[in-house]
Parts: sequence; C-alpha cells; structure tokens
Amino acid sequence: MRSSLTFSPILLFLLRSFKYPRRLCSQPDDTSNYHQNPGAENRNSRDFQQIPNEVNVDGARRCREQYFSYSNEIHSRMVTSQVVKDFTEASQSIQNNGILEELDGFIKEGKVKEAVEVLGVLEKQCIAVDLPGLLNLMQACGEAKGLEEAKAVHEHIVRATNPLNVSTYNKILKTYSQCGSMDDAFNVFNNMEQRNLTSWDTMITGLAKNDLREDAVDCFSRFKRT
Ligand SMILES: *[C@@H]1O[C@H](CO)[C@@H](O)[C@H](O)[C@H]1NC(C)=O
Ligand SMILES: *[C@@H]1O[C@H](CO)[C@@H](O)[C@H](O)[C@H]1NC(C)=O
Repeated sequence: MRSSLTFSPILLFLLRSFKYPRRLCSQPDDTSNYHQNPGAENRNSRDFQQIPNEVNVDGARRCREQYFSYSNEIHSRMVTSQVVKDFTEASQSIQNNGILEELDGFIKEGKVKEAVEVLGVLEKQCIAVDLPGLLNLMQACGEAKGLEEAKAVHEHIVRATNPLNVSTYNKILKTYSQCGSMDDAFNVFNNMEQRNLTSWDTMITGLAKNDLREDAVDCFSRFKRT
C-alpha cells in the first residue's frame, strides 16, 4: 500500500538521518544502518517502519557527531596539506636536482643521446636548464659528432633563449661544423643578425675541414666583401 501521506514523513526522516549524513560521513561505520537496509529508499512504507526508530535516531546522532569530527578533520587536513605540500615540493626539488646531476653526468661522459633524452624529460616537466648547461651539451654533441642530438639541443636553445647572441650562435655553428653538416651551419649563419670574425672563421674553417674547399674559398671572398 503506497500512500504519499504515510510515505513522505518517513521519507523525510530517512533523508535527514541517512541520506544527508551519508554524504558527509565517509567511514563505513556511519552508513552501517543504511547498508543493513539496501535499497531502503525504494521500498514501501511498511518496510521503513520495520527499521527500529531507536537505531535511526542513534544513527542520526552518530552521523551528526561524525559530521563535526569530519569538519575538524577537514581543518586539520588543511593544516597538514601545507606540510604535505612543502614536503612534496622539497622532495620534488631533490628529484629535479637528481635529474640535473644525471644530465651533467651524461654530458661529461659524452653520452649525448642519453643527455638529450633527459633534456626532453626535463622540458616536459617544465624544468629549465640554463644556457651554459645547454651550450655544454651542444659542445658535447659536436665532439661526439651527434648531428641529430645537436639539432635537438639547438631547437631547445631556441625555445629556451630568445634572442640568441653572437657568442651562442658561434658555438652552434662550430657544433654543426664538427658534426659534418655545413648545410645546417649555413642555415644558422645566414640568419644571424650579427656576425663577428669568429663567426666567419668558424664557417671557413668548417668548410675546409669538411673537404668543401671551394665553398671555403667562396666564403672567404664573401667575408672580404663585408
Ligand atoms: C651571450 O649570452 C651568454 C649567456 O647568456 C653570456 O654568458 C654572454 O656573456 C653573452 N655574450 C654577449 C656578447 O652578449
Ligand atoms: C665574437 O663574439 C663573441 C661573443 O661576443 C666573442 O666571444 C668573440 O671573442 C668574438 N670574436 C672576435 C674575433 O671578436
């Protein structure tokens, strides 16, 4: 027998004593009454009346108490969350320092492939490597003749530093020349806003060393006309 008249006060009571606190009280204990009557909300009023009133009142009281202890807990969590945040940041920075040291190690050992991989990880995590560090890696790429790695580091330098100055450009020119790619060196050289004697010298020497003697002579002539 479903009558809305008998149904609604009980429903209201149940909503007060179970439904509302149920969302606030997260411990299993709070909801034990509710779970003992699964699907209670969908049953008819006869079923509701079988729930001992005492239990409901007790449940409601307990949930109210739990609600207050819950709000206290939220407060203490807010306090501890700052501690947790500080701790997380500290351990994050230790971790970052670890990655940066790893990068240094790879550069010193001339493991440029690994170093570039680490650089990619750092960039994804928005951890900046300073320009001297990037230029060290660029130099290592030149010594290891790792053209692909040099290109990756070059792109990284362009993303991280803008505009580049003559000294930085000159180091990039030297690396490409050491890697045997004068095409890449020329791409950079031709787009330099400013060049000095070192820039020209790096290009001419690079062409000669890469057995591009005629190009070296042409470049020298071009230099004399400047
Ligand atoms: C170029 O930039 C590097 C790194 O920022 C700096 O150390 C160097 O002094 C600069 N050189 C010039 C000529 O500005
Ligand atoms: C070219 O410029 C760089 C950066 O300012 C400098 O280190 C280098 O000595 C200069 N070279 C010459 C020959 O002036």
